[in-house]
This record gives sequence, C-alpha cells and structure tokens, in this order.
Amino acid sequence: MKTLLVELGARRYPIHIGAGLLGDAGLLAAQVPGRHALIVSDGNVAPHYLARVEAALLEKNIRSLVLPPGEQEKNLARFADVIAELAALGASRDVTVLALGGGVVGDLAGFAAACWMRGVRFVQLPTTLLAMVDSSVGGKTAVDLPAGKNLVGAFHQPAAVIADTDTLATLPLRELRAGLAEVVKYGAIADADFFKWLEDHADALLARDANVIAEAIAVSCRQKAGVVVRDETEQGERMLLNFGHTFGHAIETEQGYGGLLHGEAIAVGMVLAARLSAHLGRAPVADSERLQALLLRFGLPVTIPPGLSADALFARMRLDKKSLSGALRLILWRGLGQAEVVRDVPEADILAVLS
Ligand SMILES: NC(=O)c1ccc[n+]([C@@H]2O[C@H](COP(=O)([O-])OP(=O)(O)OC[C@H]3O[C@@H](n4cnc5c(N)ncnc54)[C@H](O)[C@@H]3O)[C@@H](O)[C@H]2O)c1
Repeated sequence: MKTLLVELGARRYPIHIGAGLLGDAGLLAAQVPGRHALIVSDGNVAPHYLARVEAALLEKNIRSLVLPPGEQEKNLARFADVIAELAALGASRDVTVLALGGGVVGDLAGFAAACWMRGVRFVQLPTTLLAMVDSSVGGKTAVDLPAGKNLVGAFHQPAAVIADTDTLATLPLRELRAGLAEVVKYGAIADADFFKWLEDHADALLARDANVIAEAIAVSCRQKAGVVVRDETEQGERMLLNFGHTFGHAIETEQGYGGLLHGEAIAVGMVLAARLSAHLGRAPVADSERLQALLLRFGLPVTIPPGLSADALFARMRLDKKSLSGALRLILWRGLGQAEVVRDVPEADILAVLS
C-alpha cells in the first residue's frame, strides 16, 4: 500500500492506494469513529463491493443507499435521496458518509455530507480510475443542473481516500480509458516527464498492469494533492487542473450528460485547448499533435461529436464557473507540462477552434 498525505493542517488526510484495501476490515472500520455510517454506492458497483464494506462495519449502525448509475443521476433529486437516508438513519454530527463508487457517487455523497448539519465526516472509496486520480481528492463536491455541470456544490474535504486498485478489474474498458484522460492531463499541464512515462507505459496501462496503474495513480494524486494544498478553493493554480474542462463541460452539457463520458469530453477538450494555444501562437503545434496521439492510443475521442454547433458550445462555455462577469477565462498551455490561465481570448479564435 502506498500512502500520500494531503497536508491541509488540521484537516490533513491520507490517500491510501493499493490492491485489496476494501478487504482490510481494520482499515475500513477505523474510518468510522462514530456509532453510525451511511454508505452511498451505485447499481454497478454495489453488487461487487458493497458487501465487503458492510462486513467491515458490522459493529456499527449502518445504512446503505444504492443509486442508479450514471451522470444523469448526479442531480438535486438524488441529493435529496441521500439526505432522506441520513434522516432515516437518525444521523447526528458524528455520522460518517462513505462514497463507494466513481466520481458521480463521490461528488453527490460528498455534497450531501457537506450539507448535512453543515458538514459531517466523509470518506471516499473510489472505484473508477477517474475517481482514484482526480475526483476523490481535493474536496470538490457538487451536483449538475440542466443549465450546467457542477453548478450547485461545496468544498468539503474527505477525511480519507481509500483507493483499492483491485476494483479496477471490473471497470468497463471505456471507463478505464476515460480515467486515463485525466491521468494524461497531469502530464500535459505540469509534468512533461510523466507525459513521456505515459507514452512509454501506454500498453501496460491499457492492460491494467497492477504496478503500472498504481504508479500512475500515485503520481496523479501527488500532483493533485500538491495543487489542492497550495490553492484549496481555486483562486489560482488549482484552475490549471481544469485544462480541457471548459470545452469538455460544454460538450457534456450540450449533450444532456448522456453522450460522451466525462473523461472522454475532457480528452476532446484538452485537444481543443491545445489547438487553440497553437492557433494563438502560444504553443508548438507539435505538442498538441503529441497530446492527440497519446489520447488516441488510449482509445479516446479527440474531435467534437457530430451534431454539436460551435455557437451552442460557445454559449455553454460562457456559463462556465471559471468565467468572471461574463469574460471567459480559459486554461491554455505553452506546450507539454506548462498550463496557464488566459483571459480575454478573442471570441473569433475560440469559434475557429470549435468549428
Ligand atoms: N470532484 C472533483 O474534483 C471531480 C473531478 C473530476 C471529475 N468529477 C466528476 O466525476 C464524475 C465522473 O466520474 P466517473 O468517471 O468515475 O463516473 P461514474 O461515477 O459515473 O462511474 C463510471 C461508471 O462506471 C461504473 N463503475 C464504477 N466503478 C466500477 C467498478 N469498479 N466496476 C464496474 N463498474 C464500475 C459506474 O456505475 C458508472 O456506470 C463526473 O460527474 C465529474 O464531473 C469530479
């Protein structure tokens, strides 16, 4: 097991990464210091892993809520379901909410934990690669509205993250690929050596080689944890983690959250951001081609899905949370390993890349 620390002073928490961690009853039981807990999971994950977590918490008063899977379920109605379950549990301030699943379950359960009695203990048990390398770390919680992704949410750090890499064995290949998009992002925005390492280990990653995947998760989490510690509430550096996201979220929202997976939309978004950077003369064209080549190797989409108009996507981008008083702020790059926040990119240039 590898353990990293997110050094947030009194709110410091560990990220445990390793094979078989959900079978470690002692580790899980230690996450629930109070008398009761709510486990939130989804219908794809629960049949494989819920019994293990419940068994570890036998001594506690627990309830489990299994939600239907999918991004469309990350909404206010499901949030209300989690809150109702906490009420049915009679949850007091010492309750622990455990999120067993991917980023959808993590964001939703985390937001409920942030709101219940203005904030209770929350533990992430991520089961997708994307959740292990990104969404479970850093305390962003939210639900989507029809008007946009993650528009209602809160910053609420978990008390621990336990990433059992064995759970990736049952993850559909398409979801594994989507997670690899976020892994590539870390190389793209801040670590050209890691990007090269990903190029060298692409086949092993796709083959789910346990050691190589654990290494990729650890490097990604280390990078994310560092950024979160330096800029927890996204006043500056943390924005760089949104490389590709303004474009990607626009695609997801325009598709009604039923088209590309989040990680796939981010893959397209990163390529668009890199192309825009090259188009503006800020970055080498060769680097955007290298980014595109690695994403393609991981089987990820790199072009806007058919049927989405440039104007509609641009209108969605304006509502992005990174916009300030209507002015778009985009995360662009100077090339591999060097992202930056850019204000006031001319509309015509953005539309050119979207077309
Ligand atoms: N909070 C953050 O900082 C942050 C960062 C990135 C992404 N996100 C959010 O995360 C969400 C995407 O997360 P995701 O990609 O994990 O999606 P997800 O939670 O929808 O999981 C993907 C699919 O895989 C299934 N699944 C999960 N684990 C499985 C396993 N081990 N075996 C079999 N099936 C499994 C799920 O049921 C689902 O169908 C988006 O809503 C995105 O906005 C949040």
